[in-house]
Amino acid sequence: MDVRDHTGLLQVVFEPQTQPEASKLGARLRSEWVVCVKGQLRLRKDPNPKMPTGAVELLASEVTVLNTVSRPLPFAVSDAEEKEQAREEVRLRHRVLDLRRPRMAANLRMRHALVRCMRRFLEDDQGFIEVETPMLTRSTPEGARDYLVPSRLQAGEWYALPQSPQLFKQMLMVAGYDRYYQIARCFRDEDLRADRQPEFTQLDMELAFTDADGIMALMEQLIARCFSDVLGVQVPLPLPHMTYADAMAKYGSDKPDLRYGLEFIDVSQAVAGCSFRVFAGALADGGCVKAIRLPQGSRVSNSRLKPPKGDIVSEAIAAGAAGLAFMRVQAGGAIDAAKPIKEGLDEQQLAALLAATQAEEGDLLLFAAGPTPTVNKALDRVRQYLAKDLNLIDSSAHNLLWVTDWPMFEFNEDEQRLEALHHPFTAPNPLDVEAAGGDLRGARAQAYDMVYNGVEIGGGSLRIYRRDVQQKVFDAIGLSHEEAEAKFGYLLDCFELGAPPHGGIAFGLDRLAMLFAGAPSIRDVIAFPKTTQAQCALTGAPAAVADAQLGELHVAVVREQAAAGDGAAAQPDIVVKHQA
Ligand code: AMO
Repeated sequence: MDVRDHTGLLQVVFEPQTQPEASKLGARLRSEWVVCVKGQLRLRKDPNPKMPTGAVELLASEVTVLNTVSRPLPFAVSDAEEKEQAREEVRLRHRVLDLRRPRMAANLRMRHALVRCMRRFLEDDQGFIEVETPMLTRSTPEGARDYLVPSRLQAGEWYALPQSPQLFKQMLMVAGYDRYYQIARCFRDEDLRADRQPEFTQLDMELAFTDADGIMALMEQLIARCFSDVLGVQVPLPLPHMTYADAMAKYGSDKPDLRYGLEFIDVSQAVAGCSFRVFAGALADGGCVKAIRLPQGSRVSNSRLKPPKGDIVSEAIAAGAAGLAFMRVQAGGAIDAAKPIKEGLDEQQLAALLAATQAEEGDLLLFAAGPTPTVNKALDRVRQYLAKDLNLIDSSAHNLLWVTDWPMFEFNEDEQRLEALHHPFTAPNPLDVEAAGGDLRGARAQAYDMVYNGVEIGGGSLRIYRRDVQQKVFDAIGLSHEEAEAKFGYLLDCFELGAPPHGGIAFGLDRLAMLFAGAPSIRDVIAFPKTTQAQCALTGAPAAVADAQLGELHVAVVREQAAAGDGAAAQPDIVVKHQA
């Protein structure tokens, strides 16, 4: 049998002829029982080179059962016995067993190795210190909803759990701890996906007296060290930089996956003046026409590009595009395309189009036309879909880059106001502000994200450290002076106490661990994660609490009955209100 402890597996053998007592007991042992085995370690006659301990075995002379398993196991723990993967719901409910599985154990150990590597680099080589910041605090805006905690002592008032340690780390800079880091738990009440959790961990850092290039250079060394120590992969430094504007123009994404090509080519100029209705209409409305060139275009049949059934065109439509136009390039620059396209482009436009796309015989050109954001979104989705479908992604590649020069703000259509793209503490590019006569609304931010194989693994920025500039950003996002004072007065006050220039970054530790482990979900590298419904399948959190406890917290729960006629499936909403 195999016995397992935290170091791995060891094969134990029983020899009835020489050790009858131990062998009798050994025959009674069952999966996952807890045992103590004494015996003699010896070389195996048939070594197993696939097992780290495969050269040896333990000849049992004494077996003690420390504990048994007294209920049926919901799934097998060992890889060998595991015929099919248990459903995630079942795994999360029986997490203790799930964590015993070799794959999960390897994930958690790898995560630990990653954190250890980060700590060593930051503390031993770079002089950072870890400082803990509060969990019970005021709202720290990072663009998600807050988790709130009612106060017992201040009736009707609430703490917010931090969405990040952002403001505390900035205050630590003012306090003179100019190389700070923290393995920090963050809380964000947002819609969950495979790479998001309501509570997650950041490697959070802040430095003073360093510019953006200095921060990025240090951070890429840190990440390269992690790749080298944990995965044995050498990442060439410095990492490439790409501006946000370029990333959006060429990949329609602020986190482009550069393991494969299929960049977008803006062909608006080439087709300007054409009479193909779709292109002409998009350009007349101030939009654009962009193309993706797919070599060996015959890999994709026309039926996949025609709505409503074509799977590729459906991707574009799901992203908001009206459809995809396409053409196939033949020998001598001739094209095969639908009649309206063929007839809508004159010779010169066609030549310009083929030159712009550098199309060659056999290529398939896919086009999206419309408002630029829609075109970008649609082609981004098509690009990613094609890459997966045609197997264009080199799964052994580690593609890292910085995306820089983000806009400070984006327009929130619902609220009809500007919104900070990163967070409102990000410093604007001073050149842009100067060029605009002090107006920072159109400025680029001094912000940077690190992207790994198409996933945003970290983001940060230089910060505002002057009260007047911070106030201007608050003005731009429509936060009145009174609101700003009430919410962030403590930070603004700090800026008047001798605040050094500073900046920082936070990496999503769970995301990085997920990618390092090659795991499909962030839940596979978190010991006790939440489900997609933000519940803990193990403990049943969140759960109701006693009325007495609520009373102490000055909170009343109002159960609103489902509106009549909603049917039996309707759940009552739970509304938490202050008690008068
Ligand atoms: P940001 O919001 O970009 O920046 O977060 C930093 C990184 O944290 C990870 N991340 C998440 N991981 C799992 N689940 C989530 N719900 C989740 N949300 C974010 C991402 C992301 O890149 N205070 C700033 C950092 C700074 O400016 O220094 C911040 O929190 O990998």
